Amino acid sequence: MPIPKAELHIHIEGTLEPELAFTLAHRNGLTLPHTDVDALKRAYSFTDLQSFLDLYYALMDVLRTEADFTDLARAYLDRAAQQGVRHAEIFFDPQAHTNRGISLDTVIHGLTAALATSQDTHGISTTLILCFLRDRPATEALDTLHQARPHLDHISAVGLDSAEIDNPPENFTEVFAAARDLGLHRVAHAGEEGPASYIWQALNLLGAERIDHGIRCLDDTDLVSHLATTQTPLTVCPLSNVRLRAVPTLDQHPLPALMDAGLLVTVNSDDPSYFGGYVHDNYQALHTHLGLDATQLRQLARNSFTASFLPPERKAQLIAEVDAHPDPW
Ligand code: HPA
Ligand code: ZN
Repeated sequence: MPIPKAELHIHIEGTLEPELAFTLAHRNGLTLPHTDVDALKRAYSFTDLQSFLDLYYALMDVLRTEADFTDLARAYLDRAAQQGVRHAEIFFDPQAHTNRGISLDTVIHGLTAALATSQDTHGISTTLILCFLRDRPATEALDTLHQARPHLDHISAVGLDSAEIDNPPENFTEVFAAARDLGLHRVAHAGEEGPASYIWQALNLLGAERIDHGIRCLDDTDLVSHLATTQTPLTVCPLSNVRLRAVPTLDQHPLPALMDAGLLVTVNSDDPSYFGGYVHDNYQALHTHLGLDATQLRQLARNSFTASFLPPERKAQLIAEVDAHPDPW
């Protein structure tokens, strides 16, 4: 059994496997532009973040009903259980659905129907992180936060995702302040493709408590010192970074450098159906390609709970499970 871990950077829409995409398309009377599963898989070849996002948003069209969202989340949780996940803080992109006429109620009712059984079925605790699309207007993000107010029992945090370059965090200062006032945690994608200055903005203007990706912090030594001192977690996604060409190859991934700098690094899967692996596959790839040893992988698993929004007692309990686990692969 893989080592117990938390998954803190997972887009539920990015867990849509090709087979499920075809099943849902058929159920909803839709025709995908790809002839079959193999043809769709061949389209999973990306040159940058935008080339991935184009397919990611297009394929979401198959998600129409509550049952579709339930099936999506249930399939993810089944896989997560096999990968040793004990806690998942799950991103979803409301605007990607509401902007094509699917109500926020449909999305949240569908997802939470699956999340409600995951503790009993798999021993996985869950929460949702509502992400704003940074390539859409900030007014739309404010409207989305307003619409989400009846559902805040299921939502622990807000996040910021989608196309990073030329869409700086500073544009979302007001909506993040409003989220803070509602008692929500704040996280933000920054420094995936965008510059280190976007990480500073996420910290200083959005009050981000975790940085999603954050690998470009290494361009700014003051920022690295700051992240180390404050132990602000980074949710790093190695297989994603290689597939989207933020990093040329896995052997050149900066994760060891981030750990050596004393940062609170976690390993996550981002959009596993598109990037060739779920969270434990990422751990294993770090062992195979970067030579991370059992001690380092165990530290990454501990970090995943430390960096979570779980209460301190639950963190301590899960970290004790990590320590009691035999070798992490
Ligand atoms: N980066 C930014 N936005 C995203 C991603 C990502 O890797 N995946 C889904 N939305
Ligand atoms: Zn992401």
